[in-house]
Amino acid sequence: MCGIVGINSSKPVTGVIINSLKKLEYRGYDSAGVAVLNDGLINETKCEGRVENLENIFLKNKNDGPVGIGHVRWATHGIPSQLNAHPHSSESVSVVHNGIIENSTILKKHLIRAGHQFKSQTDTEVITHLISEYLKKNDLKTSILKMLKRLHGSFAIGIILKNFPDVVVGVRRGSPLAVGYGPNENYLGSDSYALKTMTNKVTYLDDDEFCFIYKDHVEFYSADGEKINKEIIEVSSEQSDYDKGNFKHYMAKEIHEQPVTIKACLKEYIDQINQNINIINFPWDINEIENIKLIGCGTAYHSCLTAKYWIEQLTNIEVETDIASEFRYRKNRFKKSQLYIFVSQSGETADTYAALDLCKKNNMKTCSIVNVIESSIARDSDYVLPIHCGPEVGVASTKAFLGQLLVLYLLTLKLSVERKDVSQAKYKEKIKSVLMLPKLIKETLSTENEIQEAAKDFAHAKGSMFLGRGYSFPIALEGALKLKELAYVHAEGYPAGEMKHGPLALIEQGMPVVVIAPRDEFYKKTVSNMQEVISRGGKVLLISNKSTDEISSENLWKKIDVETVNDDLLPFLTTIPLQLLAYYAAHILGYDIDKPRNLAKSVTVE
Ligand code: AGP
Repeated sequence: MCGIVGINSSKPVTGVIINSLKKLEYRGYDSAGVAVLNDGLINETKCEGRVENLENIFLKNKNDGPVGIGHVRWATHGIPSQLNAHPHSSESVSVVHNGIIENSTILKKHLIRAGHQFKSQTDTEVITHLISEYLKKNDLKTSILKMLKRLHGSFAIGIILKNFPDVVVGVRRGSPLAVGYGPNENYLGSDSYALKTMTNKVTYLDDDEFCFIYKDHVEFYSADGEKINKEIIEVSSEQSDYDKGNFKHYMAKEIHEQPVTIKACLKEYIDQINQNINIINFPWDINEIENIKLIGCGTAYHSCLTAKYWIEQLTNIEVETDIASEFRYRKNRFKKSQLYIFVSQSGETADTYAALDLCKKNNMKTCSIVNVIESSIARDSDYVLPIHCGPEVGVASTKAFLGQLLVLYLLTLKLSVERKDVSQAKYKEKIKSVLMLPKLIKETLSTENEIQEAAKDFAHAKGSMFLGRGYSFPIALEGALKLKELAYVHAEGYPAGEMKHGPLALIEQGMPVVVIAPRDEFYKKTVSNMQEVISRGGKVLLISNKSTDEISSENLWKKIDVETVNDDLLPFLTTIPLQLLAYYAAHILGYDIDKPRNLAKSVTVE
């Protein structure tokens, strides 16, 4: 999704801005641009497509200067094109923007009536003209305050101005924005990743705050124009792991990294000597929690769905799950006895953040499970549980999903023992099993060649289905999501037992269907459902686990066995072949695996 970089320096900045924009490529984007201020003029360079194209243009025309802003755009208003790429500049003001200006149509009408001429189809351009308009009669601070009052929606904005050549302005409402500090230069970035090659010292703006970034200092202001002091945070160095290694794609690297990332996470959370889970210092009394609400989007939502089964199984707490974009607009009954858990890899997903914000405003207990610990969701939750899996660059979430599952599982175990829902003996036995996961995940990765073979049929299919029961149902949803987002093949995840209530009609001769049926309590039932699919011509790829007893099924197309582990932990293993299946299907089709079309890593707009 969109990303911002700004620099105020005494040296030329375009090259540095372009390098920082490359750091933001993982977010997904369709065009890029940079504007610099030099000798009293604003110079823009913009292009459709990759930052590489921008770099090539820059290498030819050397448009440079000591003060500048850059942007990668993910289209919301107006098609991806050079014209709609940011920055959007008038003669005196240049603007980059993340988010959406909800009242842009009405503002545009007023501005056109006042004589402004628009070049693009974007909502962002109204910001450029609005500031230019206010600056006719006001100083810079008053103009920004007036602009903040007029704009509706969510935004992070970076601005440079012809008549204020010593400043870069940053403004935030709803979308994250960070300020970074360097030697005789200072920076603006949509997150700390954007600034990581330049500094690890950052300050995050809060909603309705703005800042003036000078070369040698930064001034922060509140929504009423008061000067404020803000904390400087040192961001963790773990975010520096961006190397693809010997892998062709980040996604392949991230799938194969899972034994290591799960091990690292276990190390953080499990005291192996005392066989105890180090989830402590809850800001509330655990025994007062009667219900848990798990909230997330996409893959993170699937980890919430999986955790529902665990929490129901191992504790007496009631559990509900919710998709953040639905939760935030529903009439919610907030209960004091409820704990709200927000799951998000990036910690910046706009809908999940809005759901958290709503809960905070209603004084609810909030806990977040995130990968990026400096993120907005982590910063604004009462309690944070990091998943410790290192940066995930591929747009399709893989290692973060397993990391989320692990933290949710450990949290469930901790709650269950603290509330005495399970015995100490059972708790210790489960800890012992979970410690086996890195080894079992590694062994399960050896199914890669078999999966690669099966992927051909999925890549060329008109559509496919992913079926499972119990814990395997959310994993079916996750497998289908991966295939859709990477191979652009229609895939539907369904509870296996629901097939005969409608979707069975979709099954036709040769349709590839994944059935997830490890030998758990649902096994026999799922195998019966599988048989119904096979009888109607479905070509079934069965994902089960190693066992001595043979599966009594006729006409099964292929079977892949993951390792064997206790039932609760099977989702960690059955997920692996599904990640590989989507990866190889996309690979066969020649798609851009790390940056699938239309998608972004960090979804910072609604
Ligand atoms: C996963 O493969 C997706 N790209 C997507 O569903 C993602 O999980 C979702 O957008 C939520 O992101 P978050 O975890 O950063 O909040």
